[in-house]
Amino acid sequence: MAKIPRSHLAQVDLVPATSADEPIVANLLQLYIYDFSEIIALEVGADGRFAYPQLPRYWSESSRYPFLAAVHGRWAGLVFVRAEAEPVPVWDMAEFFVMRGYRRQGVGTRLAHLAFQRFPGEWQVRVMESNYAARHFWERAIEEFTGRPPESTRADADGGLRHVYRFESKPAFSRGPDTLIPSMG
Ligand SMILES: CC(C)(COP(=O)(O)OP(=O)(O)OC[C@H]1O[C@@H](n2cnc3c(N)ncnc32)[C@H](O)[C@@H]1OP(=O)(O)O)[C@@H](O)C(=O)NCCC(=O)NCCS
Repeated sequence: MAKIPRSHLAQVDLVPATSADEPIVANLLQLYIYDFSEIIALEVGADGRFAYPQLPRYWSESSRYPFLAAVHGRWAGLVFVRAEAEPVPVWDMAEFFVMRGYRRQGVGTRLAHLAFQRFPGEWQVRVMESNYAARHFWERAIEEFTGRPPESTRADADGGLRHVYRFESKPAFSRGPDTLIPSMG
Protein backbone atom coordinates (compact mmCIF):
# COMPACT_ATOMS: atom_id res chain seq x y z
CA MET A 1 0.00 0.00 0.00
CA ALA A 2 1.32 3.45 -0.92
CA LYS A 3 2.60 5.58 1.95
CA ILE A 4 0.43 8.52 2.97
CA PRO A 5 2.23 11.87 2.60
CA ARG A 6 2.17 13.78 5.89
CA SER A 7 0.38 16.63 4.10
CA HIS A 8 -2.49 14.23 3.35
CA LEU A 9 -3.17 13.35 6.98
CA ALA A 10 -6.17 15.69 6.74
CA GLN A 11 -7.68 12.79 4.78
CA VAL A 12 -7.81 10.78 7.99
CA ASP A 13 -11.35 10.88 9.38
CA LEU A 14 -13.06 9.76 12.54
CA VAL A 15 -16.52 8.73 11.35
CA PRO A 16 -19.26 8.18 13.96
CA ALA A 17 -20.47 4.59 13.46
CA THR A 18 -24.24 4.21 13.41
CA SER A 19 -26.07 1.02 14.31
CA ALA A 20 -26.33 0.40 10.54
CA ASP A 21 -22.52 0.29 10.52
CA GLU A 22 -22.38 -2.44 13.18
CA PRO A 23 -21.52 -5.21 10.65
CA ILE A 24 -18.57 -3.13 9.36
CA VAL A 25 -17.38 -2.45 12.90
CA ALA A 26 -17.78 -6.13 13.78
CA ASN A 27 -15.61 -7.12 10.80
CA LEU A 28 -12.83 -4.69 11.75
CA LEU A 29 -13.04 -5.83 15.38
CA GLN A 30 -12.14 -9.34 14.22
CA LEU A 31 -8.88 -8.02 12.76
CA TYR A 32 -8.20 -5.96 15.88
CA ILE A 33 -8.75 -8.87 18.26
CA TYR A 34 -6.73 -11.18 16.03
CA ASP A 35 -3.81 -8.75 16.36
CA PHE A 36 -4.11 -9.00 20.14
CA SER A 37 -3.97 -12.80 19.97
CA GLU A 38 -0.27 -12.32 19.28
CA ILE A 39 0.30 -10.88 22.77
CA ILE A 40 -2.48 -12.38 24.89
CA ALA A 41 -4.18 -15.77 24.85
CA LEU A 42 -7.35 -15.42 22.78
CA GLU A 43 -9.23 -18.12 20.93
CA VAL A 44 -12.03 -18.05 18.41
CA GLY A 45 -15.38 -19.60 19.21
CA ALA A 46 -17.01 -22.52 17.45
CA ASP A 47 -18.09 -20.11 14.69
CA GLY A 48 -14.47 -19.19 13.98
CA ARG A 49 -14.89 -15.66 15.26
CA PHE A 50 -13.50 -13.82 18.27
CA ALA A 51 -16.19 -12.80 20.75
CA TYR A 52 -16.89 -9.14 21.57
CA PRO A 53 -20.20 -9.39 23.42
CA GLN A 54 -20.30 -5.73 24.45
CA LEU A 55 -20.50 -4.45 20.85
CA PRO A 56 -24.31 -3.83 20.78
CA ARG A 57 -23.93 -1.67 23.91
CA TYR A 58 -22.14 0.91 21.76
CA TRP A 59 -25.50 1.77 20.25
CA SER A 60 -27.70 1.28 23.29
CA GLU A 61 -25.73 3.20 25.94
CA SER A 62 -25.29 6.95 25.70
CA SER A 63 -21.88 6.81 27.40
CA ARG A 64 -20.32 4.88 24.47
CA TYR A 65 -19.10 6.41 21.21
CA PRO A 66 -18.05 4.08 18.38
CA PHE A 67 -16.14 5.46 15.38
CA LEU A 68 -14.80 4.03 12.17
CA ALA A 69 -11.46 5.36 10.97
CA ALA A 70 -11.20 6.29 7.31
CA VAL A 71 -8.21 7.22 5.18
CA HIS A 72 -9.09 8.77 1.83
CA GLY A 73 -12.60 7.41 2.38
CA ARG A 74 -11.52 3.77 2.89
CA TRP A 75 -11.95 2.00 6.24
CA ALA A 76 -8.62 1.84 8.03
CA GLY A 77 -9.46 1.07 11.65
CA LEU A 78 -11.72 1.86 14.56
CA VAL A 79 -11.86 3.98 17.69
CA PHE A 80 -14.17 3.36 20.67
CA VAL A 81 -14.51 6.05 23.34
CA ARG A 82 -16.37 5.63 26.62
CA ALA A 83 -17.43 8.19 29.21
CA GLU A 84 -16.64 6.90 32.68
CA ALA A 85 -18.27 8.67 35.61
CA GLU A 86 -16.51 7.05 38.57
CA PRO A 87 -14.63 8.08 40.60
CA VAL A 88 -14.37 11.25 38.43
CA PRO A 89 -15.74 11.93 34.94
CA VAL A 90 -13.15 10.85 32.40
CA TRP A 91 -13.04 9.92 28.72
CA ASP A 92 -11.65 6.45 28.25
CA MET A 93 -10.08 5.17 25.02
CA ALA A 94 -11.80 1.80 25.08
CA GLU A 95 -10.51 0.38 21.76
CA PHE A 96 -8.12 1.78 19.18
CA PHE A 97 -7.01 0.11 15.97
CA VAL A 98 -5.17 1.04 12.79
CA MET A 99 -5.05 -1.66 10.13
CA ARG A 100 -1.58 -2.91 9.32
CA GLY A 101 -1.37 -1.42 5.85
CA TYR A 102 -1.87 2.07 7.28
CA ARG A 103 0.57 1.90 10.18
CA ARG A 104 3.72 3.98 10.80
CA GLN A 105 2.39 6.79 8.62
CA GLY A 106 0.96 9.02 11.35
CA VAL A 107 -2.61 7.73 10.95
CA GLY A 108 -2.92 6.53 14.56
CA THR A 109 -1.57 9.81 15.91
CA ARG A 110 -3.98 11.78 13.77
CA LEU A 111 -6.95 9.65 14.88
CA ALA A 112 -5.96 9.94 18.53
CA HIS A 113 -5.74 13.73 18.26
CA LEU A 114 -9.11 13.92 16.50
CA ALA A 115 -10.67 11.91 19.33
CA PHE A 116 -9.01 14.02 22.04
CA GLN A 117 -10.26 17.20 20.34
CA ARG A 118 -13.74 15.83 19.96
CA PHE A 119 -14.06 15.09 23.68
CA PRO A 120 -12.47 17.87 25.75
CA GLY A 121 -11.82 17.08 29.41
CA GLU A 122 -9.95 14.49 31.44
CA TRP A 123 -8.76 11.45 29.54
CA GLN A 124 -7.35 8.05 30.35
CA VAL A 125 -5.75 5.54 28.01
CA ARG A 126 -5.17 2.05 29.40
CA VAL A 127 -2.58 -0.10 27.66
CA MET A 128 -1.61 -3.67 28.37
CA GLU A 129 1.80 -3.99 29.98
CA SER A 130 2.87 -6.39 27.23
CA ASN A 131 1.74 -4.10 24.38
CA TYR A 132 5.08 -2.32 24.03
CA ALA A 133 4.28 -0.86 20.61
CA ALA A 134 1.07 0.74 21.86
CA ARG A 135 2.76 2.09 24.98
CA HIS A 136 5.37 3.79 22.84
CA PHE A 137 2.70 5.04 20.46
CA TRP A 138 0.47 6.51 23.22
CA GLU A 139 3.31 8.17 25.10
CA ARG A 140 4.31 9.94 21.92
CA ALA A 141 0.80 10.72 20.65
CA ILE A 142 -0.29 12.20 23.99
CA GLU A 143 2.89 14.23 24.41
CA GLU A 144 2.49 15.62 20.87
CA PHE A 145 -1.07 16.64 21.78
CA THR A 146 -0.53 18.21 25.19
CA GLY A 147 3.10 19.25 24.86
CA ARG A 148 4.16 17.23 27.88
CA PRO A 149 4.57 13.55 28.77
CA PRO A 150 1.37 12.01 30.17
CA GLU A 151 1.12 10.96 33.81
CA SER A 152 1.40 7.21 33.97
CA THR A 153 0.38 4.71 36.63
CA ARG A 154 0.14 0.94 36.58
CA ALA A 155 -3.08 -0.83 37.45
CA ASP A 156 -3.94 -4.49 37.76
CA ALA A 157 -7.49 -4.68 36.40
CA ASP A 158 -9.62 -6.27 33.69
CA GLY A 159 -7.53 -9.41 33.81
CA GLY A 160 -4.03 -7.96 33.45
CA LEU A 161 -1.46 -5.34 34.28
CA ARG A 162 -1.96 -2.09 32.39
CA HIS A 163 -0.28 1.26 32.06
CA VAL A 164 -2.81 4.03 32.58
CA TYR A 165 -1.97 7.36 30.94
CA ARG A 166 -3.87 10.42 32.16
CA PHE A 167 -4.01 13.88 30.68
CA GLU A 168 -6.39 16.71 29.94
CA SER A 169 -7.70 17.67 26.51
CA LYS A 170 -8.11 21.41 26.41
CA PRO A 171 -9.48 23.20 23.34
CA ALA A 172 -6.25 25.25 23.33
CA PHE A 173 -4.33 22.07 22.54
CA SER A 174 -6.01 21.84 19.12
CA ARG A 175 -3.44 22.26 16.41
CA GLY A 176 -3.58 22.92 12.71
CA PRO A 177 -6.21 24.49 10.46
CA ASP A 178 -8.11 21.27 9.91
CA THR A 179 -8.42 20.19 13.51
CA LEU A 180 -11.58 21.98 14.62
CA ILE A 181 -14.17 19.24 14.90
CA PRO A 182 -17.59 20.02 16.46
CA SER A 183 -18.26 18.12 19.69
CA MET A 184 -20.89 15.44 19.66
CA GLY A 185 -24.08 16.84 21.13
C1 LIG B 1 -0.58 1.16 18.06
C2 LIG B 1 -1.16 1.62 16.71
C3 LIG B 1 -2.55 2.24 16.96
C4 LIG B 1 -0.24 2.66 16.08
O1 LIG B 1 -0.84 3.17 14.90
P1 LIG B 1 0.04 3.89 13.78
O2 LIG B 1 -0.89 4.49 12.78
O3 LIG B 1 1.07 2.96 13.25
O4 LIG B 1 0.77 5.04 14.62
P2 LIG B 1 1.63 6.26 14.06
O5 LIG B 1 2.07 6.03 12.66
O6 LIG B 1 0.86 7.51 14.33
O7 LIG B 1 2.92 6.17 15.02
C5 LIG B 1 3.43 7.30 15.72
C6 LIG B 1 4.62 6.88 16.54
O8 LIG B 1 4.24 5.91 17.53
C7 LIG B 1 5.32 4.99 17.72
N1 LIG B 1 4.94 3.66 17.24
C8 LIG B 1 3.90 3.31 16.46
N2 LIG B 1 3.89 1.99 16.24
C9 LIG B 1 4.97 1.49 16.88
C10 LIG B 1 5.54 0.19 16.99
N3 LIG B 1 4.95 -0.89 16.42
N4 LIG B 1 6.65 0.03 17.71
C11 LIG B 1 7.25 1.08 18.30
N5 LIG B 1 6.78 2.36 18.22
C12 LIG B 1 5.65 2.55 17.52
C13 LIG B 1 6.47 5.50 16.85
O9 LIG B 1 7.20 6.44 17.65
C14 LIG B 1 5.72 6.22 15.74
O10 LIG B 1 6.50 7.18 15.07
P3 LIG B 1 7.48 6.73 13.85
O11 LIG B 1 6.67 5.87 12.92
O12 LIG B 1 7.88 8.04 13.26
O13 LIG B 1 8.61 5.98 14.50
C15 LIG B 1 -1.29 0.42 15.71
O14 LIG B 1 -0.03 -0.21 15.62
C16 LIG B 1 -2.33 -0.62 16.12
O15 LIG B 1 -3.51 -0.48 15.78
N6 LIG B 1 -1.89 -1.69 16.84
C17 LIG B 1 -2.76 -2.81 17.20
C18 LIG B 1 -3.88 -2.42 18.16
C19 LIG B 1 -3.38 -1.76 19.40
O16 LIG B 1 -2.41 -2.17 20.05
N7 LIG B 1 -4.12 -0.69 19.80
C20 LIG B 1 -3.82 0.09 20.99
C21 LIG B 1 -4.60 -0.46 22.12
S1 LIG B 1 -4.26 0.42 23.64
